[in-house]
Amino acid sequence: MSLLITNIGELITNAPEDDGARGPAALVIEAGQVAWTGPAAAAPAADEAVDAAGRAVLPGFVDSHAHLVFDGERGAEFAARMAGQPYAAGGIRSTVAATRAASDERLRANLGRLAAELLAQGTTTFECKSGYGLTVTDEARSVALAAEVTPEVTYLGAHVVPPEFDGDAAGYVDLVCGAMLTACAPHARWVDVFCERGAFGADEASAVLAAGSRAGLLPRVHANQLGPGPGIQVAVAAGAASADHCTFTDDADVAALAGSGTVATLLPGVEFSTRQPYPDARRLLDAGVTVAIATDCNPGSCFTSSMPLCIALAVREMRMTTREAVWAATAGGARALRRPDAGHLGAGARADLVMLDAPSHSWLAYRPGVPLVAGVWRAGERIR
Ligand code: NIG
Ligand code: FE
Repeated sequence: MSLLITNIGELITNAPEDDGARGPAALVIEAGQVAWTGPAAAAPAADEAVDAAGRAVLPGFVDSHAHLVFDGERGAEFAARMAGQPYAAGGIRSTVAATRAASDERLRANLGRLAAELLAQGTTTFECKSGYGLTVTDEARSVALAAEVTPEVTYLGAHVVPPEFDGDAAGYVDLVCGAMLTACAPHARWVDVFCERGAFGADEASAVLAAGSRAGLLPRVHANQLGPGPGIQVAVAAGAASADHCTFTDDADVAALAGSGTVATLLPGVEFSTRQPYPDARRLLDAGVTVAIATDCNPGSCFTSSMPLCIALAVREMRMTTREAVWAATAGGARALRRPDAGHLGAGARADLVMLDAPSHSWLAYRPGVPLVAGVWRAGERIR
């Protein structure tokens, strides 16, 4: 069964030769994959056809950073922050208490709601972290639940030191690298650590990533979010797929990223929701760093599931061009997740795509806050 989407006003494939030239263009899907793209006039026949009527089509968004397994909410903390309170890593503990107290069914229902929210806004691939359980049992059920909704599951036992380990961070790191890792590794692809003042230092973070790697997990790091620090260097030294946040960077951090295979994943929703300064995306891009954009959807520092909002923020607040922002939210995210099948619409890619109720990708930033996602296909199936 093949599907032709024709009369596309602007087709963004992220293929190297794609200059974003205006259509009409067409795309053919076969067996869940992109089989052909090109000018509409030259399109081959297919079993079914959809008329895009001049609308833009782009790869489905790849949200490479999200914390979706939790219970409770922190709206009051957000309101206090907007009234002048600073954001601190300690707020995570209140979500940990709520998550531990929740039943599996409750966590699964909340996770399902958020996953549906992402999908409805055009996100066809997303990562999901644990990190609000912080006991062997609660982390293991967090990664197991995450694995029900995505293959991109990240073990984040090293999110913060939980209260029962106050004064014994070393003891907690031992648990994260020992029994907790053993229980979580079968359900996860990635290992992550929050390398930050108030969370874990460079040596602790490196130990967690090394233990995760020995258990077959691939490293990624929460780095340089709340202040300057060693996170980016730790990520690059570990060969991490991504260093996430990168809000505070110095010359050595930028040079380390530029000379590495580590993607800088920027999370501008966090700066929006914490009133921190935005990361210097232009400096990273100009240095040749591969940049991704993701939501960081979580109940504390940023509770948006909207990749279109993050694109708008990247353009308006971080001075990325509209094409750079869309690339970062699709192909960039796919690189941060080492997923060559996602984030582009070249022949052979998974047929994950979004149709906008707009003639151009630029409308994602030009019409901020407006629901423009008119159609979503995942692996060739229309799901919206
Ligand atoms: O990515 N930085 C650490 N973790 C989350 C925040 C989690 C929370 O505040 O609950 C983040 O911003
Ligand atoms: Fe995060």
